[in-house]
Amino acid sequence: MHFLCISSDLAEGRCRAFSVAGVSLFGVRRQGKVHLYRNRCPHRDIALNWHEDDFLDDSGQLIQCVHHGAQFLIDSGECVTGPCTGEWLESLDCLEDSRGLWLTD
Ligand code: FES
Repeated sequence: MHFLCISSDLAEGRCRAFSVAGVSLFGVRRQGKVHLYRNRCPHRDIALNWHEDDFLDDSGQLIQCVHHGAQFLIDSGECVTGPCTGEWLESLDCLEDSRGLWLTD
């Protein structure tokens, strides 16, 4: 397991970038649950973001790729708008305990 952050460092409705062994990841907390994905857009296999911790659209309801506007459901990582519609972000398993958030993959 790899420690990612203490729970208060990923607040409700916010997202945060992580790096584990050189792999770029990000987490989004929605309705208390953290969803963790590899930071790689299925359209071009590049990072979704330009700015650190910036992975959501203006509404905060969808994950968004800055390059060509693909949008993904927070809960599942499914692309619902844009050039890779129907493809998925790579989901990673995580767990949260009293010490914080952990990558378990
Ligand atoms: S690289 Fe993400 S939408 Fe094109």
